[in-house]
Amino acid sequence: MAQTVEPVQQVLSASERFKLDAGDDALFYAEPRFVQHLDAGFRARLTALYRERIPPCAVVLDLMSSWVSHLPDDVSYEEVIGHGLNDQELQANPRLDRHWRQNLNADQRLPLNDASVDAVLIVAGWQYLQYPEAIAAELLRVVRPRGHVIVAFSNRMFFQKAPQIWTDAGDRDHLATVARVLMAQGWPRPELIAEDTRAPGPLGWIGGKGDPFFAVIATRPDGTRPDGASQG
Ligand SMILES: C[S@@+](CC[C@H](N)C(=O)[O-])C[C@H]1O[C@@H](n2cnc3c(N)ncnc32)[C@H](O)[C@@H]1O
Repeated sequence: MAQTVEPVQQVLSASERFKLDAGDDALFYAEPRFVQHLDAGFRARLTALYRERIPPCAVVLDLMSSWVSHLPDDVSYEEVIGHGLNDQELQANPRLDRHWRQNLNADQRLPLNDASVDAVLIVAGWQYLQYPEAIAAELLRVVRPRGHVIVAFSNRMFFQKAPQIWTDAGDRDHLATVARVLMAQGWPRPELIAEDTRAPGPLGWIGGKGDPFFAVIATRPDGTRPDGASQG
């Protein structure tokens, strides 16, 4: 049964949505980038988090994905659905069972049924959302009770493509903003993780640091809507 659609609660001001490059995001991502956006230490931490939090039977949505999903190689999920902006990258991603392309700054409605996904992953992607409130509301619609949204990021970005709310803020503000946007749509207070990682190779052996690891983990309550009302 379709859930009641709640109005989206706006959190960002118009100026906080401004980004330097106002060109079509789909054009920016038209050429595939078969690169790792995050270093090995960050990726290992993220994969460990996924192993800990996502059960093997889960339907997983990798939103804002590319040719890699960072899921543990030895775990099979019921289905891994991918979304992104570059078809070649998504086709090359060995973890995806299916995928679609959609510019989330042009259209925030996700083509997924209510309560159909157990875990949503967003890696180094939230920082490019100009309308994160509408996405957070959609995630509340598509995630099943007890399902998670895991938003992970580091301290880098394509600066010209990130809205001002991200470019003008520090790491702790980023964590707080993601949490605030989720909670404004009815998600319970999320868990926040902020950790150092070790630099890859010899630098790491002598204490050098790698990409800092930040994650916001929101969990949909069991059997009730986040506002406490029971689900119809
Ligand atoms: C830095 S990459 C991260 C890719 C991947 N999650 C990873 O871990 O390597 C940023 C990704 O955000 C997504 N993205 C950026 N802007 C977008 C937009 N306007 N609509 C939809 N996806 C977007 C694209 O999929 C792009 O590959």
